[in-house]
Amino acid sequence: MASRFYVTTPIYYINDVPHLGTAYTTIAADVLCRYHRVRGHESRMLTGTDEHGLKIQRAAEARGMAPGVHADEIAAAFRATWPKLGCAPDDFIRTSEPRHKKAVQELWRRIQARGDIYLGHYEGLYCVGCEAYYTEKDLKQPGNVCPLHHRPAESVKEESYFFRLSKYGDALLDYYRRNPTFVQPASRLNEVTSFVREGLQDLSVSRTTFQWGIPVPGDPKHVMYVWFDALANYLTALQEPEDNTRFWPADVHLVGKDILRFHAVYWPAFLLSAGYGEAELPRQVFAHGFLTYSGQKMSKTLRNTISPVEVAEALSEAAAAALPGGAGAAAGAPPVGVDVVRYCLMRAISFGQDGDFSIQDLLARYGSELGNALGNLLNRVLPFADEVPEKGELGPLEEELLAAQRQASAAAATAFDAHQPTRALDAIWTVIAAANLYVDKAAPWVAKKTDPRRLGTIVATLIEQLGAISVMISPVMPEVASRMRDQLGLSPLAPEPGNDQWPVLPAARAPGEKLRKGAPIFPRLEKEKEAELLARFAPPPADAEATKAAPEAKAAPEANGGAGAAAQPARQGKSPVPFDDFARLDLRIGVVTSAERVKKKDRLLDLRVDTGDGAPRRIISGIAASYAPEELVGKRVIVLCNLPPRDFGKGLVSEGMLLTADVEGRVRTITVEDAAPGTPVL
Ligand code: MSP
Repeated sequence: MASRFYVTTPIYYINDVPHLGTAYTTIAADVLCRYHRVRGHESRMLTGTDEHGLKIQRAAEARGMAPGVHADEIAAAFRATWPKLGCAPDDFIRTSEPRHKKAVQELWRRIQARGDIYLGHYEGLYCVGCEAYYTEKDLKQPGNVCPLHHRPAESVKEESYFFRLSKYGDALLDYYRRNPTFVQPASRLNEVTSFVREGLQDLSVSRTTFQWGIPVPGDPKHVMYVWFDALANYLTALQEPEDNTRFWPADVHLVGKDILRFHAVYWPAFLLSAGYGEAELPRQVFAHGFLTYSGQKMSKTLRNTISPVEVAEALSEAAAAALPGGAGAAAGAPPVGVDVVRYCLMRAISFGQDGDFSIQDLLARYGSELGNALGNLLNRVLPFADEVPEKGELGPLEEELLAAQRQASAAAATAFDAHQPTRALDAIWTVIAAANLYVDKAAPWVAKKTDPRRLGTIVATLIEQLGAISVMISPVMPEVASRMRDQLGLSPLAPEPGNDQWPVLPAARAPGEKLRKGAPIFPRLEKEKEAELLARFAPPPADAEATKAAPEAKAAPEANGGAGAAAQPARQGKSPVPFDDFARLDLRIGVVTSAERVKKKDRLLDLRVDTGDGAPRRIISGIAASYAPEELVGKRVIVLCNLPPRDFGKGLVSEGMLLTADVEGRVRTITVEDAAPGTPVL
């Protein structure tokens, strides 16, 4: 029987249209789901809209609309957006649907029957932007200002039902202890654990001062607290219209770091109370970081300016215009703009960390990683043949490429399994680099003149390798994968439960199978088109909200004694770097879990370092002259995590770099005393 995979996105508030931030989570969920489909797992992805609560009621009032009419309109916009970004959710739940309402009321009754809901009075502070209750210490003083929304929280005093959250502190801590990967990245588990350890207060779970919500069973003057209603969607969507409850528990709830607490504390507590056992709690809550756009916080103005769908469409148009023969030539070639946006979001921002998305970066990756590395590989092979040639004996170069494939395939699978699409792509690009290197070394243009049999071997090897690459990139770039497969004469991927199509090694091709050369997938963009894209999607001038946010997130380097203001001369004659460039470095605390010498390379140590990604990353470091391997194990070091992987040869691929200092000729690692693996260094 095929194993199962169930991934969810947060259900999005309908006070906003879909934007780059919400697209990021949805694309990530789609990528993971597509990966599991290729692995032959019965897979399911859920997304939807969170439609109740005061925030939505007010948004509808502001538009002079009934909340239901407003909800229909915005929910339709969300539903229509996801396919335009290549996302194929299996279900889309709206919390205003009868199926949801019925199931949430049932959940309420179950929890009430356990004695965990009681009537009381709530008096305190509430941020409508967060739809969350706060104490004064959570807010900025004076004025009880919400740190996320920059607006004062409102005072609330009303009759309310309470959920006995305080009863579940120990059970939650036990669950976290027994399931250390329940919260990812690992560093975020500390945050959740400390919150629970500080002591949980009972939670107000109903409101009486507005009506836009699900009525409390037996007491309809109360509507349910919107988070009680919303969290339940992950379960209620499996119950109707058809029974999909076999997918429960969810393998991973993807959430932004802003809503981790609701998912890692309240949600499992509700479930425990409703009688779900530990084995029926969600397996993981993965909190990804927040995106900035061209270094700017995504304020409302910016969110509305940068539509990921428009970016994708504009890029597709620019690529079509760059094809030989102009835009018309693209008529038969499906656009790849969407896939490029998906690729950049998954590759540029290390999943789990904050990161930046910009058109400059997208164009750079389009040109180098996609055009020069992947597209060019295909273009270097196809001109040599119209059909798959006969393969002769394999030599050391082919063996080397196969070893690179084996390693990349395993590393990418491990990364996808750990919900690390960025690292999976890093691994896949190592084999793309290896295949390009293979072309350089095997020199088919020479074999063409001197040795047709050898040419056959080289071309067939590359065609098979490209087939494997098409499968591995398909979760992130399904359209590009189809176009590659078409040119390689392969049928489109057709995932089916029980059929694992992940290529450990490339699948063999029968000689004589026809190839179908097509238009370049990533044609080089014209300079004017690039300039047009940059101008069209230039961020608007930073607004007050954005400028306010910048120092909050980025104050640390100056506090560390960094160069600070650009006007100040930088040390050692290095020229000043814009702060945004510095902010792009993914620096993290890592704990060295193993270290060994590299045979025949005296300078190098082969390290495994836990950087909070679920699985330790491999780092090849030139510090063997200064450290014995055993001295390093257990050390807390600082790791630069977003360097492109570096290949030291013989399968030694380094996925990062340790920060070191030269102290009187001896290399010393920079260490810290206590911080969890994955803790960001700012
Ligand atoms: N309705 C709640 C979730 C309920 S789930 C039971 C909610 N909705 S939201 O519309 O505000 O969406 C929040 C989610 O959107 C974030 O958690 C995150 O997944 C995504 N993002 C919104 N802005 C973002 C960025 N700037 N960057 C990355 N993701 C962001 O909270």
